[in-house]
Order: sequence, then C-alpha cells, then structure tokens
Amino acid sequence: LHFDEAAPGLPVAHITTPLASASIALQGAQVLTWQPTGQQPVLWVSKAAIFEEGKPVRGGVPVCWPWFGAVPGKPMHGFVRTRLWQLRGAELDAPGQVVLRLGIGDDVATHSLWDHAFDLELTVTVGSTLTLALTTRNTGTQAFEITQALHTYLCTTEITQTTVQGLDACHYLDKVQDFAPYQQSGAVTFQSETDRIYTDTTADSLIVDAAGGRNLRIAKQGSASTVVWNPWTDKEKTMADMASGEFHQMLCVETCNAGPDAVSIPAGGAHTLVAIISVE
Ligand code: BG6
Repeated sequence: LHFDEAAPGLPVAHITTPLASASIALQGAQVLTWQPTGQQPVLWVSKAAIFEEGKPVRGGVPVCWPWFGAVPGKPMHGFVRTRLWQLRGAELDAPGQVVLRLGIGDDVATHSLWDHAFDLELTVTVGSTLTLALTTRNTGTQAFEITQALHTYLCTTEITQTTVQGLDACHYLDKVQDFAPYQQSGAVTFQSETDRIYTDTTADSLIVDAAGGRNLRIAKQGSASTVVWNPWTDKEKTMADMASGEFHQMLCVETCNAGPDAVSIPAGGAHTLVAIISVE
C-alpha cells in the first residue's frame, strides 16, 4: 500500500497484491482502478478526467449519496463524492486480499446541504473480486431517507456489441424520455444515449463484452435499483471531462437505491449497500 498524488494534488492510495492492483482517491472514497492479475483493467476512467479538489473524477466508482441524480440548487449526485474522506484502516484479511476502510461524517458544511447527523463508511476489498460496502449510520434522533449509488464505470471493448443481462422484465424509468416508465424485454443493448433507473431489482447484472470476449458480473446486496448509463455522442460532447468517442469503450452499471427505491433509516439505524464485481 502506498500513496501518491494524481495531478494536481488529489491523494490516491495504491494497492498491489499478488491477486490484483487498485487505486482509491481519498476524495470521494472513489475507487479509480481495479485490475485482477492477468486481466485487462475493469474500471473505466476517461483520458480527459480532471483530478482536482472539489470535482468528481470521470470514471472508477464515484459514491453518490445522500441523493442520486439532480436536486434543484444542490450538487448533482449528493455531496460526498467531492469531499475528502478519512482513511480509517487498512488490513490484509486473506492472502492477497486488502481491505481499506474510509469514512466521513456530518459537519457544518454537510448540514447546510442536508440537515442530518450521519456516519458513512465505505469498505473496499481488493482481491480477485472487488467488493464495495457502503454503510450509512443514522447518528441523529430522527429517521432520514436517502437515495444512493455506487456509480460504477466499466470498460468495454465496443458498446454496440455489449449487452447487460439480468434485467429482463424489470420496470425502468427512462431519463432520456423524461423518466417515462417502460418494461425491459431481454438483455439491454446500446444504440443511442441510454440512461435508465431499473427499479425493484436485486438480481446480478452480467455485462457481456462480446468484442472483448469477457463478461463482468456485478452482484449486489441492500440494493433495489440498477442504473444503466451511456452518454453516447451528443451528451459526451457536453462533458469537458470525456474525450471524443470514448463512449464506445465504457458503460455504467450502477448499484443503487434510486428513484422510488429510497431507503428510510431510523434514528440509530444503519443500512449497507454492497456491490461485488468479478470477471468471468
Ligand atoms: C448517471 C445519471 O448515473 O450519472 C446520468 O443517470 C448522469 O443522468 C450521469 O448524466 C453522470 O453524472 P455526472 O454528475 O457525474 O456528470
């Protein structure tokens, strides 16, 4: 385990074990890379990503919390992805497997955006699989509600030859069509901008990268929704931190509680959202 800084000054923890390598920015507790030994990288990061304090990095796994998506007058996808988290611990929990614990709590700045007392902890287990577990603790005296995402950017060889299995027959809200409700039939395929909240689904997603000849599996716990996103040509052009044509080599399959799947946590209670990513 060692630290350095991604230009121009975001602290990043690097982990190398016989099973895998990974890097995690302390800002946002954002996993940037994970590569099992002998495999191509699994997480996608834009060539135009900006590593700057206060800006989410375009790629890896941003943590969206305590809301997913846009809230008028407030930061998109919540406020923890642009704040510095504390490294609470690092340990070797099995041969070749390292666990990092990162946490963040409420302060004056968070209360000005969201007036609740909380403790949020992400454990990142780096090994031949990558496991992210996000625990929300309500340390206040009243219940609160959250939406959230482990906003996972994945590499693929060619998006038009990529499909996502595991969402057949699920209902979804289509953000490209003003959140109109639809029902999935078969695997998800990509021919244009895709931005969907699949609701009431706890199944694994299997990302089939036909051109690359490999599958990625995302298993989950404590998650009722899955978001599937690819910006395609026009939306990509609006994003300064995506290079031209990069949408061909990426997609997001996000482990969430989003839209109608908000989670209510009573005073003193806790909830854990888990994503387990593996290569098949
Ligand atoms: C996705 C949303 O999860 O995140 C999209 O569904 C959004 O609508 C995308 O564009 C990226 O968001 P941001 O804030 O990182 O640019």
